[in-house]
Amino acid sequence: MPSSYVRTDDVLSERYSSSRALEHEIAHGNTDLIKALTILGCVGPFKTVSPWEYQDPQGKRLINTGGYSAVPFGDGYPPLVKFLQSYLENLHSIGLPQQSASNWRAALEFNLIKLLASQDPTHADSKVFFSNSGAEANEAAIKFAKAARPRAKHILNFRRAYHGKTQMTMSLTPNPSIQKDFGPLAPNIHTHPYGDLDAVKTTIKKLGADNVVAVILEPLQGEAGVILPPEGFLKGLSEVCQATGILLIVDEIQSGLGRTGSWFASTDGGMQPDIITLAKPLGGGMAAVGATIYRKWIFDKVLGGLDCKRHSNTFGGNSLAMAVGLKSLEILIDENLPERSARMGKLALDRLKGIQQKYPEFITDVRGKGMLMAMVFRDITRLGVVQANKDLAELVSEASGLLALRQFYQNGLILNLSLNSTRTLRLTPALTMPDDLFNEMLNRVEATARKNPRASRLLVNTPPKTLLDLVKFAT
Ligand SMILES: Cc1ncc(COP(=O)(O)O)c(C=O)c1O
Repeated sequence: MPSSYVRTDDVLSERYSSSRALEHEIAHGNTDLIKALTILGCVGPFKTVSPWEYQDPQGKRLINTGGYSAVPFGDGYPPLVKFLQSYLENLHSIGLPQQSASNWRAALEFNLIKLLASQDPTHADSKVFFSNSGAEANEAAIKFAKAARPRAKHILNFRRAYHGKTQMTMSLTPNPSIQKDFGPLAPNIHTHPYGDLDAVKTTIKKLGADNVVAVILEPLQGEAGVILPPEGFLKGLSEVCQATGILLIVDEIQSGLGRTGSWFASTDGGMQPDIITLAKPLGGGMAAVGATIYRKWIFDKVLGGLDCKRHSNTFGGNSLAMAVGLKSLEILIDENLPERSARMGKLALDRLKGIQQKYPEFITDVRGKGMLMAMVFRDITRLGVVQANKDLAELVSEASGLLALRQFYQNGLILNLSLNSTRTLRLTPALTMPDDLFNEMLNRVEATARKNPRASRLLVNTPPKTLLDLVKFAT
């Protein structure tokens, strides 16, 4: 390969510098995302110091509480790394078993169904289809549901839901900033306030249950900023589906496999889903693994008989991804991580509530279940700081989350934004994060609040040049 190319050795040996990486990202990647992160001073690229800690190019050490719930063990968690080394050293499986049985895929199919059946025995003979992302898992859920109820045309969903950004899943994600420019969206989608069972019942009555394919929901809304369903809603909705034959599709891509303190937030809430989608933690923070679990009769409607290739993909079920998925599930089970998530999450939420009460002019609300936690920040514009200029006020209001993100970074924490809630930051630490680091994470949250006792301090504590660059970037 000519020397003008970047060689793998260059990246492995770190001869490929972070400044060259940034240059290439800006030239050929998501330029504006990289630029925005550069303005905020948190662009990386990061090196791992431990599975739970990163170092930025300036040498700053950070605790990673980001990862959008897809990093269940941290980066380079030794049991997963050791397993992958032995997987690669003992390679005897074909990489893409598209037209053959596969030990790795079979084992993961078996274990996933065994796990689900341990929570809901009616799934003992269910089936799995593997894909490469959460969105793809949801696409497959809707597609199979339609085939299972071919005469029905309508799908019910919920406000502020997040199901992905492919054409169908974006249509089910009722966020105008995500949907604009991509119409026509999929038709016959009926959106309800999250948690409003009566509204769902009214729609079903209006449309006729036989005309409704499915209801799709997150059993706890993640990208909306960790919104918990009202008591009894999940069970009630499940009962409505059972009584009417409408299929219940539960998107557990963010909530499932331990993040919220149980194996499945849906079954934990009394639901009996017909279709469950999984992704994020199944990839162990290392590989792309999406899975859609169906009741057998639904699966067979699409892939029965000679139609058994009617839905397929090239990479889903590949051996490396399946091996990572199998090991990830094994670690989650062996280390009892859902239980740890519930226990540590409860402690953290209590502490966060205390911090919120101490600094209500900075943090207006905290929410959480297990190790999926959110903090909502006061709208700077509501404090009368920049009310004179409406456009600027809107921008600053939107930017509150970004300025808070920057402040947490300055205090050594990487947090997550929330796609459907601009002033909400999420903490999604690895479920394996050691106790002392977990405490340190909360200490750093408190230190950041102490430094910004009122949201308006976010402006004072951001250098004028950064503010100016942000305004220029956004306008
Ligand atoms: C609940 C939920 N569904 C679906 C998705 C989409 O997953 P992916 O980004 O892998 O396509 C996400 C991602 O954040 C999610 O949180």
